[in-house]
Amino acid sequence: MHILVTAASKHGATDEVADAIARRFTKAGFEADRIAPGDVDSVEEYDAVVVGSAVYILQWMPAAHDFMERFARELAAKPVWAFSVGMNGVPKHAPQDPTRIGPLLTHVNAKDLKSFGGRYKPSLLSLRERSVARLAGVVEGDFRDWAAIDEWADGIIASLGR
Ligand SMILES: Cc1cc2nc3c(=O)[nH]c(=O)nc-3n(C[C@H](O)[C@H](O)[C@H](O)COP(=O)(O)O)c2cc1C
Repeated sequence: MHILVTAASKHGATDEVADAIARRFTKAGFEADRIAPGDVDSVEEYDAVVVGSAVYILQWMPAAHDFMERFARELAAKPVWAFSVGMNGVPKHAPQDPTRIGPLLTHVNAKDLKSFGGRYKPSLLSLRERSVARLAGVVEGDFRDWAAIDEWADGIIASLGR
């Protein structure tokens, strides 16, 4: 099994989630390529694709949008799993409308769209970003649940037949 794991990340939290997923695949004996969405030239060689993005102002990042559009036709013919990393579901943060991300996935055959908690560390951000984050009510802290991330990757491994 040859799997592409691609993710759009601005401050690294989503990249680390994608790294953990790819490591899980490698441990299971799959070949996993970790490539940024903008650097992917072709998806032809992959048996499955895992695509993720950090969520900013309710949206996937432009690089992830662009990836879904560029490869829409090829992705429609492959098993695709999608994940978002953000503060949706984090306590104190209001649940958001997932249909903002959903339309991106309707033209591919996505098996799942999973939301993971992210990390918000104001010290990593510009003043402008901190102001927007504050207005959006983003909660400070690292909410990434590594056990849940491994479990999700294991579900993909099982469904691909290992
Ligand atoms: C300016 C800003 C806006 C954000 N907007 C959202 C949002 O609309 N929904 C959400 O779930 N999380 C939101 N977040 C939280 C980020 O998705 C979270 O910090 C994520 O882990 C960032 O991933 P990255 O480090 O890979 O860029 C926002 C964070 C910032 C700084």
